[in-house]
Amino acid sequence: MKLKVIFTVLVVGLLTVLACKKDKDDDPINNLPPYNPTPYTINTPSNLPAMNVPSFNPTTVEGVYLGRKLYYDKLLHPTGTSSCSSCHIQSQGFAVTGTNIIPHVNLGYQNKFLWNGEIQGTLEDAMMFEVETFFGTDVSRLQKDSLYPILFYKAFGSTTIDTKKCAYALAQFLRTVVSGNSKLDRFIRHEALFTPDEIQGFNIFFSEKGDCFHCHSLSLTSDGDLHNIGLDSVFTGVNAGYYNVSHNAADYGKFRTPSLRNTALKTTFMHDARFTTLDQVIEHYNTGVKHSPSLDPVMTKPGKELGLQLTPLEKQKLKAFLLTLTDSTFLTNPDFSNPN
Ligand code: HEC
Ligand code: HEC
Repeated sequence: MKLKVIFTVLVVGLLTVLACKKDKDDDPINNLPPYNPTPYTINTPSNLPAMNVPSFNPTTVEGVYLGRKLYYDKLLHPTGTSSCSSCHIQSQGFAVTGTNIIPHVNLGYQNKFLWNGEIQGTLEDAMMFEVETFFGTDVSRLQKDSLYPILFYKAFGSTTIDTKKCAYALAQFLRTVVSGNSKLDRFIRHEALFTPDEIQGFNIFFSEKGDCFHCHSLSLTSDGDLHNIGLDSVFTGVNAGYYNVSHNAADYGKFRTPSLRNTALKTTFMHDARFTTLDQVIEHYNTGVKHSPSLDPVMTKPGKELGLQLTPLEKQKLKAFLLTLTDSTFLTNPDFSNPN
């Protein structure tokens, strides 16, 4: 009798140990394959510059996937109210039409971020700002998730999640968000023809007549630098631009040159969304430039004292050219869409 009890206890005990062991074996976190991320080659078209990827955060398939997932996940937000994609919508050029949100396009080439250039450095620096300062991400929400610790392991070799790894994954994803297939790109690569209006608009943009190319340079359509284009002559509040960062009077009214890719989708333009049509933007450059000591010298070159003096027809052609900057492949690329 006693023996039977002991035997039962032993069997039950053994079964429990086996069961526990089995649970442990089933938990994917205890069965991780060796850390071996797959290198990812960023697909940059021939007419775009080569992209510098910092050696401390190489691009990998696993890192890009993780970054893309985080970009679309409200779990990154401390109270789950929004994801990055709430304000950066792919079909709207990773912005929201009708707001002053800067589109996410070709960010991997940039080293000055935000309209007033407040964040300078690598895309990783910009993402650290977004994750820590802008979102105030609470990584314990991701750590408690059943999938994220494994995805972080696959991307970075450890299941422990921190804000730096979140920022690095987002940077990897956003580097792949490349636009290089607008009609302008295809025209440059001899894959598409411009209409006569588009050619004349191109010539205005890329010659001393329009002078746009000094700042909206090829093929990114941005020099990535800060300029005062004469929107104001008195500078207060956000309109002071980079002055609010540097506190140097020479920087009054300076803002980062935005990329003009997909600009035709926008319904508001400039850092404060002051213009609502491309015609108004063109008219600004044509007749609206306001003088101040920090005004960019390009705007007051000899012969340009009275503005560009474009005829109504020339303004139309310049606009026809700006419409060739829409990249519909970019706006619908499934690799940039919500993976969740
Ligand atoms: C509530 C809306 C909102 C959300 C959510 C949001 N952003 Fe933004 N984002 C903005 C606005 C507005 C700007 C422009 C602000 C400025 O320049 O002063 C901006 C600018 C940026 C820029 C600068 C782009 C450039 O060209 O300089 C980056 C990068 C960026 N956001 C990344 C992110 C990431 C990553 C997330 C998620 C962690 C995110 N954003 C979430 C509204 C948002
Ligand atoms: C001296 C540099 C410079 C020159 C020259 C220049 N731009 Fe700009 N452009 C900028 C900057 C900087 C901004 C953003 C200004 C701001 O928001 O305060 C801008 C904004 C724009 C925008 C609005 C984009 C958006 O997302 O809101 C358009 C469109 C544009 N420029 C087109 C042109 C055209 C067309 C020309 C030539 C007629 C031109 N630019 C000449 C620097 C320049």
